[in-house]
Amino acid sequence: MKVLGIETSCDETAVAIYDSDSGLQAHVLYSQIELHQEYGGVVPELASRDHVRKIIPLIRQVMVDAGVTQQEIDAIAYTAGPGLVGALLVGASVGKSIAYGWGIPAIPVHHMEGHLLAPMLEDNPPKMPFLALLVSGGHTQLIGVDGFSEYNILGESLDDAAGEAFDKAAKMLGLDYPGGPAIAKAAEHGDIGRFTFPRPMIGKPGLNFSFSGLKTYCMNTIEDCVEQQGSLDEQTRCDVAAAFQDAVVDTLLLKCKRAIKQTNYKRLVIAGGVSANTLLRERLKKTMSGMGVELFYPRVEFCTDNGAMIAYAGCQRLLEGGVVDHAIQVKARWPLDQL
Ligand code: KG4
Ligand code: ZN
Repeated sequence: MKVLGIETSCDETAVAIYDSDSGLQAHVLYSQIELHQEYGGVVPELASRDHVRKIIPLIRQVMVDAGVTQQEIDAIAYTAGPGLVGALLVGASVGKSIAYGWGIPAIPVHHMEGHLLAPMLEDNPPKMPFLALLVSGGHTQLIGVDGFSEYNILGESLDDAAGEAFDKAAKMLGLDYPGGPAIAKAAEHGDIGRFTFPRPMIGKPGLNFSFSGLKTYCMNTIEDCVEQQGSLDEQTRCDVAAAFQDAVVDTLLLKCKRAIKQTNYKRLVIAGGVSANTLLRERLKKTMSGMGVELFYPRVEFCTDNGAMIAYAGCQRLLEGGVVDHAIQVKARWPLDQL
């Protein structure tokens, strides 16, 4: 069974073809990062318009790359939410229209379920059940995954998502958008011992997160330095980036440890843009192996938004027989446990 997947929830236009027998056939992606960079974040209207420009050429390209004809495609999966409504509508209307024209089903896919299942595209995929840490620009969640579509949200951010905190801290430091990779790069040259940032919510029981206080702490640290030195020098920028990254990674790590102790899952999956972070991967790997827990994550290009995860999730949904979609409907907000 071959599924063509379309992702347009934010600032990446991405398309892929997944085959239930032979795996991923091809995937293509166009990133709008340059378009949004001068604004320091995604401008929704510009994002929608750019998706309109790129989506059809990318669909054509992925079919050529995969060597697949229209008759061979069994279904079209598209991201139906959560995300930017205008951006989602582009993928949804194009996906639905093509599916209608070709006489095949259209499958609405939950973007975060796509991220959650992205490690399934790797050579050594995790077996269910597992604990998942979903860390993206819009979400930070710990999820108990007991089967396909059996998702229990065990904890989540009460305010900013981890990726959002990276993006905002980077902006304060005058670093490029997206902030996560920019902070990680600056942190490589930083002195980890110069500043110590707080580990939010660690003292409180439970598995929720909060990153907005860390953002304020970062702003205050920068302001203090500017006051003392007159400006933000390159070394201070790197030192703040290192302290900030250390605090976010440590907080995520401590909550994962707590979740594993409470639930006894033997596998941990990390997914979403922030799971590309090298420090997070390294620290989790060390800690989890000490606890007898196996760690899984997607290849770096499938941590951030991509079409492959949508094609895969759509294919699983089709195999489960759960496709009910007659209207073009998208949802800006869509809790994963309400699938
Ligand atoms: O999953 P994603 O591509 O989009 C959403 O669904 O939100 O995640 C994007 C987020 C951005 O906030 C970006 O700064 C962050 O992932 N990110 C990273 C890294 N690469 C991307 N954060 C920390 N370290 C990275 N290497
Ligand atoms: Zn995403």
